[in-house]
Amino acid sequence: MAETASLPLVSLPNKMATVKVLAESPGLSSIPSTYTFPKNESDKKSSVSDTEYDDNLIPVIDFSLLTSSSPEVRSIIINDLREACQKWGFFKVINHGVPEILMKEMMEECKIFFDLTEEEKGEFEGKHVLDPIRSGTSFNASVEKVFCWRDFLKVFVHPQFQSPTKPCGFREISEKYCKRTREVARELLKGISESLGLEASYIDKTLNLNSGLQLLIANLYPPCPQPDLAMGLPPHSDHGLLTLLTQNGIGGLQLQHNSKWVNVDAPPNSFLVNTGDHIEILSNGKYKSVVHRAIVNSKSTRISLAIANGPSLDTVVCPAQELIDNESQAPAYKGMKYIEYLELQQSNRLHIKSCLDRVRLLNLINI
Ligand code: OGA
Ligand code: NI
Repeated sequence: MAETASLPLVSLPNKMATVKVLAESPGLSSIPSTYTFPKNESDKKSSVSDTEYDDNLIPVIDFSLLTSSSPEVRSIIINDLREACQKWGFFKVINHGVPEILMKEMMEECKIFFDLTEEEKGEFEGKHVLDPIRSGTSFNASVEKVFCWRDFLKVFVHPQFQSPTKPCGFREISEKYCKRTREVARELLKGISESLGLEASYIDKTLNLNSGLQLLIANLYPPCPQPDLAMGLPPHSDHGLLTLLTQNGIGGLQLQHNSKWVNVDAPPNSFLVNTGDHIEILSNGKYKSVVHRAIVNSKSTRISLAIANGPSLDTVVCPAQELIDNESQAPAYKGMKYIEYLELQQSNRLHIKSCLDRVRLLNLINI
């Protein structure tokens, strides 16, 4: 991939005020025009309809069944995963065994992080989009025309575990939390491999998950005086394999499903799981990554925590040979090293599936 190997190192702009500081400015009743997202016609038409798509229809995966020793139970849950990946690219995971207290503590550490002074958070600003610890605002403010109503902390937590030094409890809690969520993700990926007709260990082995990249992404969405004009995160797909998301009890995640935006509610202590671009590439388009976005509200601060689980950075990911249809015998995506894909995605504006489109070779039906 000569053209991608020589990507310029995109550096971040000098200090831009966080949305937290902006939202806390006294008497703020409207948002700066740089935070106003253009709303186009198709967006209006596809806004959530409470009749057609109900959150109740979003698949729920009972994780405890995945580890069942009964072949019948396993085949039921594998079928459920197949359907969830084919129809939604999204499912809610319950009974996953990650302790409730650990989930609460992790969310609390994120809150404490965002409550650090701007100066303290500034220590973790990061200079490059792939710096292992990076605190900032919007998505990639150096290339955006409109900014997101969102502050973030991104940390590379695997294969090398990293942590900001503040708040003081962050390191211990996040190390435990990331280990547990990584185990859940790998188990789900075994089920997903089987659901594609591959060996359970296929994704784990082929994409070198022993040294797989795991990212912790904490998002802060402060209350916004004009929530209909702003966007927490614009429509996008995630770059990795599976993202496990939790939130502080405040909703805001929406999925694109059959051209409609569907609000997602989270059952207590569940993970909201979406498939990423590398599931789409590996499965040769049999499973699509789901387009999603985060909307904001005027009343409450929302915090979400996304744990992104991907291949190892030096793995070249291409469609599984076993899944290339006999008739066409053609892979629908070209292979690319995960690190190059990641840099491409993180260095540009967050825009629907613009990154995946750059490795797409064929236009599959139903894309
Ligand atoms: C993300 C993301 C959604 C949310 O971090 O990639 O899509 O609800 N977050 O915060
Ligand atoms: Ni996302």
